[in-house]
Amino acid sequence: MNKTHTFPSLSRRDFLKLTAATGGLAIGGHLLDTFSPWLDYEEQAAQPVQPIAQEEPMSQQMQSMLRFATLAANGHNTQPWKFSIHQDTIEIYPDYSRQLPVVDPNNRELWISLGCALENLLLAAKAAGYAPEVAYPDVDESIRVRLSSDTPQTTALFNAIPLRQTTRSVYDGQPVPAADLDKVQALPLEPGVSLHYLMTPTELETALEYINEGNLRQYANRAFVDELIFWLRFNKKEAMAALDGLYSRCSGNPEVPGWLGRIFVKSTKPQQQADADAKKFRSSSGAVVIVTDTDEKAAWVRAGQQYERLTLQMTALNIKSALLNQPIEVAELRGQFQSAFNLETRLPQLLVRYGYAQPMPRSLRRPVEQVLMVEKTDAWSISVSG
Ligand SMILES: Cc1cc2nc3c(=O)[nH]c(=O)nc-3n(C[C@H](O)[C@H](O)[C@H](O)COP(=O)(O)O)c2cc1C
Repeated sequence: MNKTHTFPSLSRRDFLKLTAATGGLAIGGHLLDTFSPWLDYEEQAAQPVQPIAQEEPMSQQMQSMLRFATLAANGHNTQPWKFSIHQDTIEIYPDYSRQLPVVDPNNRELWISLGCALENLLLAAKAAGYAPEVAYPDVDESIRVRLSSDTPQTTALFNAIPLRQTTRSVYDGQPVPAADLDKVQALPLEPGVSLHYLMTPTELETALEYINEGNLRQYANRAFVDELIFWLRFNKKEAMAALDGLYSRCSGNPEVPGWLGRIFVKSTKPQQQADADAKKFRSSSGAVVIVTDTDEKAAWVRAGQQYERLTLQMTALNIKSALLNQPIEVAELRGQFQSAFNLETRLPQLLVRYGYAQPMPRSLRRPVEQVLMVEKTDAWSISVSG
């Protein structure tokens, strides 16, 4: 006998109940998917760095050193680097597929980011018992670090690498005691790099005017906002899938579904952003501008090294820091900013604020295997030997 399947006929009330239940399930499912309670962000972010064992082969030690390099500060957390290992040499290459054409059209900040990674790499190499020798990029497109054996030197700066972070919150307004500031100011300077500390209220207010103006111009620029959105990770699912970019909670923002976050950011009024950053800047203990004599790749790399050194030293002293680079990123403001602080021919590269605050969630990094160019090194060694 043929069985015909008939749908049960529902009363209007039952139909509405079913619709509400289905809608509830869909929303619940969507929220669950966005907030993914089964994903352990903290565990991923706290990824332990491997101690660099003396008895390991050099190539293994070099890979452990690269983990420290990748924990460096870098623009928009694009991690714009690739590495190769060949015998006693590590090379750091730019990854131009991760450049930021709107905010950083000349790749200045990209090379600064490579300098930050270089500084961490040098500290790790020294801790592992090597004396590093650096060849800076000129016409070459890479930074070369050659290692020779030495006595291991584990420094407070090296120990601070896994703890350092960009802390973008409002600080508590407490001043950094003079003795600690002296320790920061005593840091060795890279050749051609200097630090211009903004000490007086007038200097700080002047810097703030430029930060405001920079924010107004950047947030009024659709291309800037689109580029920023591309690198924003609005919830931990997005952050953990990409292992790069700016995760909301690292900037003190709540987790939201991606579509909602994009609407929020697109509708941010330039003045809103300027006001929020003004509050953060005013809550800081002080600020410092990293300045270079010239404006080319090697100088940018050294500026990055100097910034990383500075922020590691601050981390070791429990001082938090963050960057507000708007006045340097907006081309028309950079020259005015330079004149306002009588830098003469010296060029501002980064504007750092510092002070005291609770730590924020850490940002993620791609694993070393994803940034190590194994094949390229092999091909290079074959072509050299053949
Ligand atoms: C060259 C450069 C420019 C940066 N500019 C800014 C900035 O203007 N505003 C900001 O909040 N963070 C800025 N950062 C910080 C990065 O966003 C941060 O290092 C990255 O997201 C990784 O996070 P972490 O430093 O906490 O590890 C900059 C970092 C570098 C190296």
